[in-house]
Amino acid sequence: MAAGVRVPDILAKKQQGELITMLTAYDFNMARLLDASGVDMLLVGDSLGMVVLGYRNTIPVTLDDVVHHSAAVARGAERALVVADMPFGTCHCGPDDAMRAAARLVQEGGAAAVKIEGGHQIAEVVARLTDGGIPVMAHVGLRPQSVHQLGGFRRQARTRSDAELLLHDVKTLAEAGAFSVVLEAIPDDVAAEATTASPIPTIGIGAGPHCDGQVLVSYDVLGLYDRAVPKFAKQYAELGRHVTQAARQFVDEVTAREFPPPPEQPV
Ligand code: KIV
Repeated sequence: MAAGVRVPDILAKKQQGELITMLTAYDFNMARLLDASGVDMLLVGDSLGMVVLGYRNTIPVTLDDVVHHSAAVARGAERALVVADMPFGTCHCGPDDAMRAAARLVQEGGAAAVKIEGGHQIAEVVARLTDGGIPVMAHVGLRPQSVHQLGGFRRQARTRSDAELLLHDVKTLAEAGAFSVVLEAIPDDVAAEATTASPIPTIGIGAGPHCDGQVLVSYDVLGLYDRAVPKFAKQYAELGRHVTQAARQFVDEVTAREFPPPPEQPV
């Protein structure tokens, strides 16, 4: 897969029992750094709104925001498949509007696929985009764009009847043509059941170890954001601390007249 990850490679990984990895990216340079890790997919998630733009949730993120950041990520990603999030409100006015929005993400944003939050209600949109040549990653369980309806960022599918609804959603979305599905913040056993039943790869986030792949927000992984880190996220580095330390050292050295150093005196 050295030449670049394509949508069929993601499906093949599930068939071959290989685990899939995805991290979020929002800009050119971070996309280059993350791409070099060998991660399969870079998601220009609407988490952009929280970790980069400073909003309290993902709802204010616009299509223009995602197009702009996706284009930067696409310029930095040489190998990973770039997936761009369809922001709040872009696919609930019908398949034609959704197609227009998704086309911008692919055409201007350089994404190879789009991700859409929603269950069986978005099946028609998934079918329309897929027919139009735009691969769709679905997203069920905790759907941050529905934070108001869900009453907060809460775990989903905790009762048997809710779990059944989720399993039905995954089946419907796969039948509609989605090439993969994110399972966010659901019990491990429900994710395991969905993964076994689903013909398309499941990518988990806070959904336990039995999914076909895992995704995390890169700012959580790198320790760059501490405002609202979900319990299930794992921090692999503390870059935020290093950034503040380096900046503090710069401030100290400039104010102490240590940087820039005085010109060397001729001997
Ligand atoms: O926006 C995002 O970053 C996401 C991931 C958390 C899956 O949707």
